[in-house]
Amino acid sequence: MRELTLLIATFNQGKIREIQRILAHTGDRLRVTLLSLADLNIAAEASETGNSFLENAAEKSVYYSKFAPNTYTIAEDSGLSVTALNGEPGIYSARYSDPGATDDKNIEKLLHKLENQADRRATFVTAVSLSLDGRLIKSFIGEVEGEIIDQRRGESGFGYDPIFYYPPLQKTFAQLTTDQKNAISHRYRALEKLRQFLPQLPVI
Ligand code: IMP
Repeated sequence: MRELTLLIATFNQGKIREIQRILAHTGDRLRVTLLSLADLNIAAEASETGNSFLENAAEKSVYYSKFAPNTYTIAEDSGLSVTALNGEPGIYSARYSDPGATDDKNIEKLLHKLENQADRRATFVTAVSLSLDGRLIKSFIGEVEGEIIDQRRGESGFGYDPIFYYPPLQKTFAQLTTDQKNAISHRYRALEKLRQFLPQLPVI
């Protein structure tokens, strides 16, 4: 049995739980132990200066890997890309309605920009990057396509979930259970690619 320790470089407990659930299924030849930044008493905040989800995820994983010598480190960056808005809000998804951005204000701003817009296509994107000792090893992208509707539907999830309609299930992401969302989400798809890559990593 091979053993691998991974640092999940986020302070977001929800993301940690989600990542744990997905990476738990690495099969009987590989056992993965997950550590969080809190476990290692790392309080430093990485900056996000990139121009893409990939650049930001890479920057964060490289940054935090320097705090945890000899430990594979993963970081993620995610957001919503709307076709009719040339990819907005993109890497600015969390702070779209700055100053004082909230999920609700972000949705308001997006719906306002899409008023009278017939093209409602949008993609949720997650980039996950893996680094070791300050060097980027590999990044993975996960995407899920949907449509922006003009009324909120559903109570679960977060961010833009209430207006992100997923045609195959005829529901918004906020109308899905956590398990249903985690089976199809952009974050799941990126992490699943990482999970399949893990057995190739040299043991350290
Ligand atoms: P971050 O990667 O945690 O900075 O997330 C960026 C922002 O993208 C979040 O604050 C949300 O606004 C949006 N976002 C990312 N993933 C999701 C999702 O699964 N549902 C809804 N919004 C999301």
